Amino acid sequence: MKSIPYGRQHIDEDDIRAVTDVLRSDFLTQGPNVASFENSFSTYCGCHHAIAVSNATAGLHLAYKALGVKKGSRVITSPITFASTANAVRFCEGEVWLADIDPRTFLLSLDSVKQLIESKPKGFFSGIAVVDFAGLSADMEAFRSLADDHNLFLLEDAAHAPGGYFTDSKDQKIKTGSGKYAHCSVFSFHPVKHIACGEGGMVTTNDETLAENIKLLRTHGITKTHEMTKNHGSWFYEMVDLGYNYRLTDMQAALGKSQLSKNDLSVERRNQIAKNYKKAFDITGITYQHTPEGHYNAYHLFVIQIDQRLALYESLREHQIYSQVHYIPIHKLPYYKGIGYEEAELKHANNYYGRCLSLPMYPTLSNEEQDYIIEKTIK
Ligand SMILES: Cc1ncc(COP(=O)(O)O)c(C=O)c1O
Repeated sequence: MKSIPYGRQHIDEDDIRAVTDVLRSDFLTQGPNVASFENSFSTYCGCHHAIAVSNATAGLHLAYKALGVKKGSRVITSPITFASTANAVRFCEGEVWLADIDPRTFLLSLDSVKQLIESKPKGFFSGIAVVDFAGLSADMEAFRSLADDHNLFLLEDAAHAPGGYFTDSKDQKIKTGSGKYAHCSVFSFHPVKHIACGEGGMVTTNDETLAENIKLLRTHGITKTHEMTKNHGSWFYEMVDLGYNYRLTDMQAALGKSQLSKNDLSVERRNQIAKNYKKAFDITGITYQHTPEGHYNAYHLFVIQIDQRLALYESLREHQIYSQVHYIPIHKLPYYKGIGYEEAELKHANNYYGRCLSLPMYPTLSNEEQDYIIEKTIK
């Protein structure tokens, strides 16, 4: 049996053709493929605006900035996420605050966020960044209602969850990135995620002002209108804000669009793999992320909870099965130690971290490989 990673991309001949077509064209960047990918992505999510960026970390930075995060702004997020959900707050000189997770879904707990908000004076916090951890869409309707009650922004880190949804109180399926409840959602196209661009990301929103601001900041804060070029010539532009170069190239956009067209099938296969794991683990008592009724999990990861985590991790490695830990909690990273969370706080996040392990999960994982992983996990 060849070695089995915890995640991997799948590139087919259509994807390769899409990229080589761009290489033969006039535009390697700032060409038509970026807008075309953005249009396909907004249609896929059902949102009004999709803005392609160089990676999700850049997307988070632009989204926080457009949402008004600045020196001293306090943003609440989950301790169980990749560092960049928090780091992008710091890029804006904001403060990272953490609430606990739900012990069954491993998502940011609404109750814990509510308690934290209510423990501080009015106006203390600026926003909430919810993570669709492992591919499970959070209940953004409930978070939006809490955010509105306290005049906060709501950002959805949807890096793990393109194609996932939850069902709202009107019985509507709300796809991640739909813009219906979150002010902004951010996706990642790193190859270990669903849609592989090499590097890449997307910000979605239904708010036109936010979209315009994010677009401006993506390209150096530079703008050009017909009005302003009239007296100078078409070479003229103005730089109106301090922006960045966070653009996606046309090669990446073409690859992303081709990959997106296969995402529903890929999520379906991920759900089949999850079903197989659950069937096997239900007999042996191994627990895993709970997907509540009405939620469709996009399964970027399949996370189990196990007491002898290190022993299992090492023994899987001996059989060339490369499981992974997602994630070292934010408050345990040396850079964030200073924000001062004691061991007794964030109890569920700490318990989760001591026992979590992500098993291989990707659409091309074969049934035979999965049987082998299950056999080596439950033995
Ligand atoms: C939850 C989450 N947010 C953001 C990111 C950042 O994504 P990128 O690598 O595209 O910057 C990641 C990447 O692993 C992630 O897992």
